[in-house]
Amino acid sequence: MMPQSSLDIQPVSKSLGAEIINVDISQPLSASLIDEIHKSWLKNLVLLFRNQTLSDADLVAFSRNFGDLDSVPGWEPFSPDTHPEVLVVSNVQENGTPIGVLGDGEASWHTDMAYIAKPPPASLLYSLEVPDTGGDTCFMNMYDALDALPDDLRRAIEGKTLNHDSSHDSGGNLRPNHQMFTSLAEAPGARHPIIRKHPDTGRPALFLGRRLHAWIVGMDVAQSDALLDRLWEHCLQEDFTYRHEWQPGDLLMWDNRVTMHRRDPFDGGARRVMHRTQLKGIAGVEAAA
Ligand code: SIN
Repeated sequence: MMPQSSLDIQPVSKSLGAEIINVDISQPLSASLIDEIHKSWLKNLVLLFRNQTLSDADLVAFSRNFGDLDSVPGWEPFSPDTHPEVLVVSNVQENGTPIGVLGDGEASWHTDMAYIAKPPPASLLYSLEVPDTGGDTCFMNMYDALDALPDDLRRAIEGKTLNHDSSHDSGGNLRPNHQMFTSLAEAPGARHPIIRKHPDTGRPALFLGRRLHAWIVGMDVAQSDALLDRLWEHCLQEDFTYRHEWQPGDLLMWDNRVTMHRRDPFDGGARRVMHRTQLKGIAGVEAAA
């Protein structure tokens, strides 16, 4: 590994994502290096560190360089090393019990926990075991998606607020202890402006959360659905995305305020084991003027 004085940063796609080469993030990093990583993260939205060997304590220590961590209540099982900030994302079962969450299915496009008042600003995902094929994670640049929005579509959503349903997960399943509602207007969750200003960069970006059960507050449900369908169709262009093919030892860190992500399904007979942290949400992000 190189002396940790400055970063070698290589973009991984046209729209977003960069690899930081040759930094061992299991080691304590200098304040100036952390500042460089933070600036690169704000610029590139997703950072990749390959070939890492991280214990849960290392993952927590690295994540804490960027803010306080959430220990997400109700998300179990947590890290086997009893770090309540580390969530296991895995399809593996031991003695008939899942060791983690999300299984082997597709996770549709989403922003992590957009359905709470203060969603996490960042999520970090570290791969311990990955399948030979499948299980890629894709990211979308929501600044670029907004910048490229046709004028009429932008005018149609300006000043509007989205209701983000909290009762379903990104696989579309009803969460435990939730009930199905009869109208989208009754969906539980949080409301956020559709166009929000990033608190650090000041740049406006789209904030869509999830498509399923989303509702534009105050609109007739059919009109809201039609508008959201147009918005999502616009966003789902490859130009705004990066596909990450995992190797063991990858750490990805994404800006959850201005990206969405999705995961491909994979063979349930293969093992995929990831450990994840997220930063605690801070005061509400403003609507863009
Ligand atoms: C997630 O949606 O947070 C998990 C993504 C993944 O398993 O790659």
